[in-house]
Amino acid sequence: MARYLVSGGAGYVGSHVVLALTRRGDQVVVLDNLRQGHRAAIPGTADLVEADLADSPAIAEVFANWRFDGVLHFAALSLVGESMRNPLVYIAENVANTARLAGAAAKSGCLRFVLSSTAALFGYPERTPIDEDARLDPVSPYGESKLMAERALDWADRLHGLRSASLRYFNAAGADPEAGIGEDHEPETHLIPLAIRAALGLAPPLTIFGADYPTPDGTCIRDYVHVTDLADAHLRVLDHLRQGRSCRFNIGGGQGHSVRQVLDAVERVSGRPVPHCFGERRPGDPPVLVAASGRLRRETGWQPRHSDLDAIIRSAWAWHSRNPYGFGDRAGSGSPVLAARPAKVPVPS
Ligand SMILES: NC(=O)c1ccc[n+]([C@@H]2O[C@H](COP(=O)([O-])OP(=O)(O)OC[C@H]3O[C@@H](n4cnc5c(N)ncnc54)[C@H](O)[C@@H]3O)[C@@H](O)[C@H]2O)c1
Repeated sequence: MARYLVSGGAGYVGSHVVLALTRRGDQVVVLDNLRQGHRAAIPGTADLVEADLADSPAIAEVFANWRFDGVLHFAALSLVGESMRNPLVYIAENVANTARLAGAAAKSGCLRFVLSSTAALFGYPERTPIDEDARLDPVSPYGESKLMAERALDWADRLHGLRSASLRYFNAAGADPEAGIGEDHEPETHLIPLAIRAALGLAPPLTIFGADYPTPDGTCIRDYVHVTDLADAHLRVLDHLRQGRSCRFNIGGGQGHSVRQVLDAVERVSGRPVPHCFGERRPGDPPVLVAASGRLRRETGWQPRHSDLDAIIRSAWAWHSRNPYGFGDRAGSGSPVLAARPAKVPVPS
């Protein structure tokens, strides 16, 4: 049995990965400041350390208290629009926290590390689907911060022997409603939860940003991967890292879907109309972002099994309609950058 440290394990993607690890019998310690995450998203069998990644003594205590077989690093500031307003906060926080966590892991002798990276590394891609050799040219401080985090991990590999996998997710979507977890962000910026919440009458009509893109129906095309498939990719990549080589993988569901197609799917699955209106294009939104995930498939045997668009929407609909207020624990200001940091809670011994 292995033990993993999961930063951001109370968040959306992290909690589904924690679930997958605990289901296969691994021990998990979640490190999360609960600024965006939810205590209820963490399975009872996992330990929670409520601390901020900026808190070096708390991190050192975690590595002193437990021996880990690997670290999975999800915790980050991840709103593209907010990063355009607070560029240096994003770069400072995402890069420094990755370096701090990777440094503490290497110092403890834990030499496997998985980073949540992003399609935002590629900016306006020259071609699509986008493979790992595509030009890296972020057009937001958020994307830049993840690129710098990947590069910091290159140095940790060369000089400390830390083997890392950078997983560039395209759009994580869906839920594991049977396990009682799903997507609950504040503010919510992702298309599928916004469309479902509009259909449920819980959110204002959805704004479609741009209907004049050079795509068949004029709306942007994105690649959605079910969060359960994403979790499976993390488990496989952890095993792959035992081969002793750092790696980078682009991860998507294998097909692009336009905003219009996603709305149609939500209406089909829910049987309800999605109230919507049209707005201007947003700066920094490329027309098409679709992943080429062939390298991940070839090297780890990964196959997306739940990432058909209707299957994604069915699981998301089940989660949102059963949990209209998400985890029901919202207290903060909603801004991950501006929210006050919680007091440090001592690490359990
Ligand atoms: N959701 C997506 O579609 C998507 C796409 C590409 C990349 N990513 C990346 O995947 C990761 C997870 O995304 P998510 O949607 O699950 O985000 P999320 O906001 O739901 O989860 C992040 C978690 O990290 C915690 N956290 C943030 N900063 C912290 C800090 N300084 N110290 C301790 N805990 C902290 C939050 O409380 C939250 O529980 C992020 O790094 C994000 O950039 C996500």
